[in-house]
Amino acid sequence: MINLQINGRCVQAKPGTTILQLARKHDIVIPTLCHLPGREVRSVCRLCVVEITGQERLLPACSTAVAAGMVVHTHSQKCIHTRQVLLEFIIAEHGALHTLSPELRALAAELGVTQARFALPPQHTPDCNRHGSDYIRLRQEKCIHCDRCIVACRDQQVIHRAGRGAAIQLTFGNHNAALPETNCTSCGDCVAVCPSGALGEHG
Ligand code: SF4
Ligand code: SF4
Ligand code: FES
Repeated sequence: MINLQINGRCVQAKPGTTILQLARKHDIVIPTLCHLPGREVRSVCRLCVVEITGQERLLPACSTAVAAGMVVHTHSQKCIHTRQVLLEFIIAEHGALHTLSPELRALAAELGVTQARFALPPQHTPDCNRHGSDYIRLRQEKCIHCDRCIVACRDQQVIHRAGRGAAIQLTFGNHNAALPETNCTSCGDCVAVCPSGALGEHG
């Protein structure tokens, strides 16, 4: 077992345990967004960042393993402020505070984000949503690029990212196909995990 500290408490953990797993074991709530328990970890949202004494950069709790002697702070001012700013950027990507999905609204409340100071110009044309199916509709303009749908569709590998920076888009299949032209089985897993409402069911 590894000995370390989390929020001033001396604890033990098995090698390979992530800081997020350790925190949850000790009833410490670290906010997450891209993380899906038991699935591939992609660490794209950075909302779970924690401070480790002696390290200048904050590190994502969902993909950082515990180490002997580590001193972890999950709710330092630096962590809280960084999460708030990151969420404000995510909200700007998505639209506005008042148009948030229930999950994102709850996250904003949890993080104490009551304003969205940033604004991004629209990146998507209505045309970019034409690739849905009779069952699934896509609204790229709502997407916050958390990759949960990509992880959820790992077996079929239908969903991908294309582009960079603010111009990232979701695409289906290998060549930006329409969903019915891909391996999509209409299982609905991507819709079930989407936190923003970018993927949804028709009707
Ligand atoms: S409905 Fe299922 S198979 Fe189709 S894109 Fe979504 S997760 Fe993949
Ligand atoms: S469609 Fe939804 S689940 Fe997929 S990356 Fe965008 S916000 Fe995340
Ligand atoms: S939950 Fe850890 S980076 Fe997204």
